Amino acid sequence: MKTIDLKKEIRYIEQYIALRNNYSDLLLTNPINKNDTLKWFKNKKIEIRGIIEREELIGIVILYINKGGEVTIFVKDKHRGLGKQLISIVEKIAKENNLCFIYAWVLKDNNNAKKLFEKCGFSQEGVEFKKYNEILFEGIQYKKFLC
Ligand SMILES: CC(C)(COP(=O)(O)OP(=O)(O)OC[C@H]1O[C@@H](n2cnc3c(N)ncnc32)[C@H](O)[C@@H]1OP(=O)(O)O)[C@@H](O)C(=O)NCCC(=O)NCCS
Repeated sequence: MKTIDLKKEIRYIEQYIALRNNYSDLLLTNPINKNDTLKWFKNKKIEIRGIIEREELIGIVILYINKGGEVTIFVKDKHRGLGKQLISIVEKIAKENNLCFIYAWVLKDNNNAKKLFEKCGFSQEGVEFKKYNEILFEGIQYKKFLC
């Protein structure tokens, strides 16, 4: 297993797109394509790390420095400890970028994500609604202070 900077290892882009689109419903994001993703990779205020196992992309964490430390995380196979590993990776990058906290928005019924953030020392900041395709979704904002 190894960690990569996805922006520097473009050959994994198709796997990234497939994995991300698989979770559109939980992440409340519209399906992405290769052209848009390549453009998005040029944003210097976004860090993307992946975990690779035998040439397969099995986990991703995104740090939105441009949004003050928002984190998005998703894995191919759950309950293998990949989520925890990705959180420790993103904490390190956030500190390197002088962020004093990181945060994530989780759908109210997304128990896997809620457990992950709670196990990793995030606290619930409160309920926050997000509008996606004209529908309001209830979620929880999680936050962890790093300094
Ligand atoms: C959320 C997600 C990233 C978690 O990844 P994961 O690799 O399964 O998490 P881990 O295996 O590292 O689990 C972390 C901890 O949470 C616990 N946990 C995770 N899901 C759990 C569940 N459903 N019930 C009880 N405990 C759970 C694990 O037991 C582990 O604790 P432990 O080490 O003490 O056993 C994964 O479910 C996922 O990709 N979901 C889809 C995308 C998503 O919802 N992202 C969140 C929005 S940003």
